[in-house]
Amino acid sequence: MSKNFDTRMMEWREQIDKCLFKIIAGSSYPAEFKSILDYAVFPGGKRLRPILFLEWHSLYAPPDESALLFACGLELMHAYSLIHDDMPCMDNDDMRRGKPSVHKEYGEGKALLAGDALLDLSYNCMFEACRDKSSSLIMFSAVRGDLGIVHGQYLDLYGKIGSLDDLINVYERKTASLIRAFCVIGYTFMQKLDAKEYLAVLYGALDGDGADDDNVAALIKPLSAYKFGHNFGIAFQIFDDVSEYIAGEKSDGTTVLDYLDLDKAKALLNTYLNAALAELDGEYNGDTAYLREFAEKFVIV
Ligand code: IPE
Ligand code: IPE
Ligand code: MG
Ligand code: MG
Repeated sequence: MSKNFDTRMMEWREQIDKCLFKIIAGSSYPAEFKSILDYAVFPGGKRLRPILFLEWHSLYAPPDESALLFACGLELMHAYSLIHDDMPCMDNDDMRRGKPSVHKEYGEGKALLAGDALLDLSYNCMFEACRDKSSSLIMFSAVRGDLGIVHGQYLDLYGKIGSLDDLINVYERKTASLIRAFCVIGYTFMQKLDAKEYLAVLYGALDGDGADDDNVAALIKPLSAYKFGHNFGIAFQIFDDVSEYIAGEKSDGTTVLDYLDLDKAKALLNTYLNAALAELDGEYNGDTAYLREFAEKFVIV
């Protein structure tokens, strides 16, 4: 590691926050509404997803301004999902990131619109960052709402969760789908890959064939980014369950602790994390040590 891990994370967060600030300030919403968007986005959470994007991108090439803009655009999608997730019609959470959630502070109408506005801005940024490099956007379609977050949130609230497998399926959609988009697009951003071919290979590989085809050697690493994001994303949601359980917080929905005792839940978390870490074993242009250390922070012993 050429640079200290903590310094590097701090620098990423500074760059991310600066870019997010510029995106909201540069929009043409009324000042009062912009301050609601700022309230939802600052001070940020862990900025885990854009950091994953930038780290995966660094395994290929150093991120430039457009990579940063894309990462921040995607982070706004996360921010929108949190506003809506907390609303009374969904999880009805009064607090987020240590302060009243957006609807508590500003009322439901403004919270709903703030979520919509962040989703809109999110796509604007991604289009702006890509310009003619459309493959990233085609890849992004792999996490579109009907496959990912919105579908997962629907199942979480209204689906029948009758087993651990059902629950992991919800986690895969509501949480891992977005996280893995950060990883895959982070790695492939600016690369000249055939996104349609990538998606065909991806779904082939997930069905158990296709990944070893010589013709698609260039797609092996993006597939690793996908598998890392998938496994890390599920691990992250289990980490959330296990840490809330250990802290004695009451859960507002089904968690892995409804199916597993604490030791087995920790073991499941670590199995997913190890599966993610295994994807970093190959040779990359950049240093995988940062991503490794980042993921290892989520191990619970
Ligand atoms: C919260 O995500 C939603 C989950 C998927 C558990 P984060 O824990 O990444 O939220 P912030 O951005 O750091 O607040
Ligand atoms: C949030 O899931 C996931 C999305 C917003 C898509 P949760 O409802 O489990 O997360 P927290 O606990 O509110 O952050
Ligand atoms: Mg929820
Ligand atoms: Mg919630």
